[in-house]
Amino acid sequence: MSLIPLLSTCLWFLLVSSFTGANEADVKCLRTIHFQVKDPNGYLSSWVFRNFSAGYICKFSGVTCWHDDENRVLSINLSGFGLEGEFPLGIKRCSDLTSLDLSRNNFSGVLPSNIASLIPSVTILDLSYNQFSGEIPAGLSNVTLLNSLMLQHNQFTGQLPPKLESLQRLNQFSVADNHLTGPVPKFNEALGLGVESFANNTELCGSPMDYCVNPEEEIIWFGKIGAATGAAVFAPVGLFLGLFLFNGRKEKQGNIRHQR
Ligand SMILES: *[C@@H]1O[C@H](CO)[C@@H](O)[C@H](O)[C@H]1NC(C)=O
Ligand SMILES: *[C@@H]1O[C@H](CO)[C@@H](O)[C@H](O)[C@H]1NC(C)=O
Ligand SMILES: *[C@@H]1O[C@H](CO)[C@@H](O)[C@H](O)[C@H]1NC(C)=O
Ligand SMILES: *[C@@H]1O[C@H](CO)[C@@H](O)[C@H](O)[C@H]1NC(C)=O
Ligand SMILES: *[C@@H]1O[C@H](CO)[C@@H](O)[C@H](O)[C@H]1NC(C)=O
Repeated sequence: MSLIPLLSTCLWFLLVSSFTGANEADVKCLRTIHFQVKDPNGYLSSWVFRNFSAGYICKFSGVTCWHDDENRVLSINLSGFGLEGEFPLGIKRCSDLTSLDLSRNNFSGVLPSNIASLIPSVTILDLSYNQFSGEIPAGLSNVTLLNSLMLQHNQFTGQLPPKLESLQRLNQFSVADNHLTGPVPKFNEALGLGVESFANNTELCGSPMDYCVNPEEEIIWFGKIGAATGAAVFAPVGLFLGLFLFNGRKEKQGNIRHQR
C-alpha cells in the first residue's frame, strides 16, 4: 500500500472530524439557548433541531452564519422577540460569534462575571431595553474586541467598572436609564461620549456629567481659596461659606429623600 493515499485518507478524516466538530458545537449552542430562554410568543418556532443538513441552523430566525452551508454562527439577533429568562450561558458554545443582540426583550437577572469567556470575540453586544439587574461586570473589559456596548434601559445598580476604560475599540456605548451611581470611567476623549450615554441614572458624576465633588471637598476648596488670598480674614469666611453650602446641600438631599 503506498503512503500517499493513506496519508490523504488520514488528512481527509482529520479535516472532516474537525469540521463537523466545530459545527456540532454551534448546533449545541443554539439548542442550549433555545432550552434556556422562555419564548412566550413563539418567535423561536423556526428553531427545529431535526434537519441535519449542512447549514440548517442558518435558516433559524435571528441567526446568521459565516457561510449559508456551514453550521457556524456569525451573529445572533433576537431583538424584540419578547424573550424571558436569564442571560443564556449556552452562548459559550458559539465560539465564532461576533455579534449578540438581545435588546428589547424581557431578559432579567445578573450578567455573569465571566462574560468574557462566554463571548470572547464579540464586537457588538446589545442588551438594551431589558430587565437585567445587579452590577455591570468588570469582566466586560476583557471582551477586548467590543466596538459597541449598549446596556441602556435596564435595572443595573452600583458603579461603572473603571476597567471599561481599557476597551480600545469602543465607538458606541450607553448605560442610560439604569440605577447607576459614582464616577464615570475616563473613556478616551476621541470617543466623544455625550451626556445621553449616561443620562437617567441615580447619580453618575464626572465628565461628561457634573464634576464629582463630595461636600467635605467643597469645604476644603473654599478654605484653600481663603488661605491663598493671604488674608487671614478670608479663611474663616471661606470656611463659613463652605459650611453654609454643606448645610444647604445636606438639607437639599434630605428634602429629596423625604420626597421619595
Ligand atoms: C433540510 O434543510 C435544507 C436546507 O435548509 C433543505 O434544503 C431541506 O429541504 C431540508 N430537509 C428537510 C427534510 O426538511
Ligand atoms: C437586530 O435586528 C433589528 C431589527 O429586527 C435591527 O434593528 C438591529 O439593528 C439588529 N441588530 C444588529 C446588531 O444588527
Ligand atoms: C415584558 O413582560 C411584560 C409583562 O410580563 C409585558 O407586559 C411586556 O410587554 C414585556 N415586554 C417585552 C418587550 O416583551
Ligand atoms: C481579565 O482577564 C485577565 C486575564 O485572563 C484576568 O486575570 C482578569 O481577572 C480578568 N478581569 C476581569 C475583571 O475579569
Ligand atoms: C431619560 O428619561 C426621559 C423621561 O423618561 C426620556 O424622555 C429620555 O429619552 C431619557 N433619556 C435617555 C438618554 O434615555
